[in-house]
Amino acid sequence: MSHSSIKRIAISTGGGDAPGLNAVIRAVVLAALSRGWECYGIRDGYNGLLLPEQYVDGGLVRLTRERVRGITHLGGTIIGTTNRNSPLEYPIVDKDGRVQYVDRSDELVRNFMLHHIDALITVGGDGSLAIANVLAQKGLRVIGVPKTIDNDLDRTVVTFGFDTAVAFATECLDRLHTTAASHGRVMVVEVMGRYAGWIALHAGVAGSADVILIPEIPYDLNKVIAKIREREERGANFTIVVVAEGARPVGGEIIVKEKAIGRAERLGGIGERIATDLQALTGKETRVVVLGHLLRGGSPTAQDRLIALRFGAAAVRALAEGQSGIMVALDPPNVNYVPLAEVAGRMRAVPLDCDTMMTARDLGICFGD
Ligand code: F6P
Repeated sequence: MSHSSIKRIAISTGGGDAPGLNAVIRAVVLAALSRGWECYGIRDGYNGLLLPEQYVDGGLVRLTRERVRGITHLGGTIIGTTNRNSPLEYPIVDKDGRVQYVDRSDELVRNFMLHHIDALITVGGDGSLAIANVLAQKGLRVIGVPKTIDNDLDRTVVTFGFDTAVAFATECLDRLHTTAASHGRVMVVEVMGRYAGWIALHAGVAGSADVILIPEIPYDLNKVIAKIREREERGANFTIVVVAEGARPVGGEIIVKEKAIGRAERLGGIGERIATDLQALTGKETRVVVLGHLLRGGSPTAQDRLIALRFGAAAVRALAEGQSGIMVALDPPNVNYVPLAEVAGRMRAVPLDCDTMMTARDLGICFGD
């Protein structure tokens, strides 16, 4: 299909929401309308096309100029999202009440055709981009837009949502400093990030944490205790510990809250464990704060809005240029195209020799190693 034959495109948002999704939607819609294309939003990932009977609007929402007015600064996504119900492993309950997981990707591609949708722009993390890659291989014209607060996607300098999450976590650390200092306590702050320590590292450095524990460096609690003692000797009776949800002790495992087929496992609980152990081993009063989904909410920062708007506009330009099977990616000062096959299912961990890590070490921040 040549780009000149595009008349109607769809956009879907998949996986955990991230501040900036609505900015992408607005940019896609305005850039599509200016080319004379119609734009539809698919409800809740691909559910709008796979379970249309569940929606009063049939699962597809016409995205007009009016519908996307004033949404750039709003968190969440106006078309909904899900991190369940992958079309590649779709849960179907059989007549005996058992859940079977089936591949509905062929049916999904057919549904795009039935609705005369010529191309898809899909905004998501590694799971959504892996699905996008399969859909592209099955002949659908697809452009991926990288999104996640975790910043763990390969081949893009940064994902939108990350800066907002880091800004909020940093503000929380500032607030916790004063109460920790007033009470002479250890404050353990658990942040999201899945198997990567980007949020913990960036917020921890910006928010002057004393200890940062990340999945990339299994920690030894004795090193954390030594840091607390060292601070006491220097007259600082409190310590701020930032821990990524995917952190684990040397020789130990990540704490998994929930495991299920067809969706990512849920992490969390390491902060509570560390706080309990630190209080028992140091005798110091310790409190834990889990920032959790607060990191996914709120208004996107100016940086995230700008990246999201640039990604949305670039995705439409890519379609207009006849591209498919690619992800738009930030490669300053440009937005480039990267084949979906090169990013699908790949995760980017924090490089231990990166400048931010070296800065943290120079500041004396303890990583539990
Ligand atoms: O990927 C974004 C993220 O917020 C992770 O940091 C976290 O592990 C996960 O999603 C939480 O998912 P849920 O919304 O299903 O609890």
